Amino acid sequence: MNLEKGYLEKKIDLSLDLFEEISYLKKEKNAVILAHYYQDSDIQDIADFIGDSLGLAQQAQKSTADIILFAGVHFMAETAKILNPKKKVLIPDLNAGCSLADSCPPKLFSEFKNNHPNHIVITYINCTAEIKALSDIICTSSNAVQIVESLPKDQKIIFAPDKNLGAYINKKIGRKMVLWNGACMVHEIFSLEKITKIKSQHPTAELIAHPECEENILEVANFIGSTTALLNYTKKSNSNEFIVATETGILHQMQKLNPKKTFIPAPPNNNCACNDCPHMKLNTLEKIYIALKYEQPELLMDENLLNQAKKPILTMLELSAKFGL
Ligand code: 13P
Ligand code: SF4
Repeated sequence: MNLEKGYLEKKIDLSLDLFEEISYLKKEKNAVILAHYYQDSDIQDIADFIGDSLGLAQQAQKSTADIILFAGVHFMAETAKILNPKKKVLIPDLNAGCSLADSCPPKLFSEFKNNHPNHIVITYINCTAEIKALSDIICTSSNAVQIVESLPKDQKIIFAPDKNLGAYINKKIGRKMVLWNGACMVHEIFSLEKITKIKSQHPTAELIAHPECEENILEVANFIGSTTALLNYTKKSNSNEFIVATETGILHQMQKLNPKKTFIPAPPNNNCACNDCPHMKLNTLEKIYIALKYEQPELLMDENLLNQAKKPILTMLELSAKFGL
């Protein structure tokens, strides 16, 4: 990456209306902003498309813009580049990583794969391009159950890197996938004890949870799904109160979609704001403005790696289209 020296130190004129400036730059440069639901509300409000990992990958693949600014984390921007390599992909902060992706280093995963011959490798999209290149099919939380279900019952499968999502699928559809021992730092932090206490204070509230949560939380959840599925459920359900066990950014869209309903973020097991993803929250409007203005930092990839990582993602997108997702 050729970062212009000191680009991050560039001062922003504090009198600028960043919403206006970003809208202007988007038009001028034919740029599109794709944002994950876990981004800050102001970023969601300036985005051209907000979605979960699957929706964002689909949008990135079909984008006709010259520039894709990805307001999410590194593996998401990387997936956009893999799917639409001719576009300039910008990421507001290159340090926006993912604890789940970090929990699966390619060398160790390669050894793990060698220790499990004759297994198909299904990998959650929250991983690096190197891990994708070692995989047969990528999945997201929107399509993981259907993708695993589409394989014969006796097919041996490695599922990586999220052990919680893998265990959830194993239990839900009766599989015995071999699981990589990885997890998301945000979804592992919820306190069952505190959730139970909130439930007793709000007896009609439904607990809705992302499948990256631990089993003890999923066991008591009224509904489990990807961020998009959770959002849709809040509209469909007759309940007026929800305890939301996923990253807090999604509450912005839930509240917008259901202005009269109440959303309570599920509490973490300590006093920190650990249900805010520190990686997602590295992105800011200021960084988006700077990235669009200077067209940096740009996500660049080795071409061989890009092509190897593309195959299992395309398989996922083909399967998703078949499932009507
Ligand atoms: P989805 O976008 O598939 O809901 O996954 C959530 C997540 O943890 C993204 O980092
Ligand atoms: Fe990774 Fe978890 Fe943050 Fe998603 S919420 S980007 S899985 S650390």
